[in-house]
Amino acid sequence: MNQQRVYYFDNNATTRVAPEVVDAMIPFLREQWGNPSSTYGFGRQAGEQMDGARARVAALINADPREVIFTSCGTESNNSAIHSALTTQPEKRHVLTTAVEHSANLKFCELLQKQGYTVTFLPVAPDGGLDLELLEKSIRPETAIVSVMWANNETGVLFPVRDIAAICRRKGVLFHTDAVQTPGKLKIDVRELDVDFLSLSAHKLHAPKGVGLLYVKRRVKYQPYIVGGGQERGRRGGTENVASIVGFGRAAELAMASLRDESRRVRALRDRLEDGILGGVPGTSRNGGKEPRLPNTSNIAFDGIEAEGILMLLDQVGICASSGSACTTGSLDPSHVLTAMGCTTARARSSIRFSLGIYNTEAEVDYVLERLPGIIARLRASAPGG
Ligand SMILES: Cc1ncc(COP(=O)(O)O)c(C=O)c1O
Repeated sequence: MNQQRVYYFDNNATTRVAPEVVDAMIPFLREQWGNPSSTYGFGRQAGEQMDGARARVAALINADPREVIFTSCGTESNNSAIHSALTTQPEKRHVLTTAVEHSANLKFCELLQKQGYTVTFLPVAPDGGLDLELLEKSIRPETAIVSVMWANNETGVLFPVRDIAAICRRKGVLFHTDAVQTPGKLKIDVRELDVDFLSLSAHKLHAPKGVGLLYVKRRVKYQPYIVGGGQERGRRGGTENVASIVGFGRAAELAMASLRDESRRVRALRDRLEDGILGGVPGTSRNGGKEPRLPNTSNIAFDGIEAEGILMLLDQVGICASSGSACTTGSLDPSHVLTAMGCTTARARSSIRFSLGIYNTEAEVDYVLERLPGIIARLRASAPGG
């Protein structure tokens, strides 16, 4: 089969595994496949390599390696942080979060509601921002944890997590942030942010799917979510995914080395794409404030047409983009993020997210800018009343 060239603009859904990461992982699939918990040398060697990876991911977020728990994904990390806060403080049965979190958080909170916990989902402004006064007022004596994402996966809008952490500190409440969309795009410093818990996922950082981490600040009580063997110092049962963890460590190292240059380069490409669309395609506008925002994300509404049609025609010319998050794409529901920002259903259904990454080039951006106006004009001409 003749494979069409792929123009990948969906890096918030997942990222290409970096060749350097694949190279780092292969020995752990081929030769060094020992169990890191085994006491003999062959197993211990795998354990030592895992310790190296732990040090590398810890360095990425300026944590102590002992504060890092490897998990299976960002979803598990989010669920685990909230679960721990509730089980270590059984008298506190309230969770404070926002209406625009990823389903990895929202669906867990909805499940908690069914189990009798109370959850407050804070609203957002039309630009996607949060009202911190309202956040502070919404913290109750029975609030076990405040969980607010750092960067929105759909719009790229950033929440001021450092300020939120300071409010939580003042109020004596635990604070978790879902930082899954930030590595490689923003500098992450858990000490400076002063958060209690922070979630990451390797596959958003050019490492494989199926591995994540939860940062748990030293001296914060922790109750494991996955219970079994004594892995991860008794904090997460289950034999570790050594090869992927090693890959995660290598990806962290690469991201640290290139963060400043790459985030600047990707931002310039994103702005070229966004300005090109807003200036070159009539009836378009951005969803979410311009700043503060991730440097790689652009979410655009195309008046009068459905995102599904746009994505289909983009796909025909090899361009990958998305509407909403990958996990909800395919459902007919309009994005909960855009709806929470006050977008009409029609606008939410006509919006596309482009998310760039380190492998995108200017030529690829120009290819999208070349193809898109024709696609939009064609869809508008065939739309009812077009
Ligand atoms: C903000 C955010 N949180 C959590 C997740 C879930 O991560 P994972 O796919 O590793 O479970 C994602 C994935 O899209 C995300 O964008």
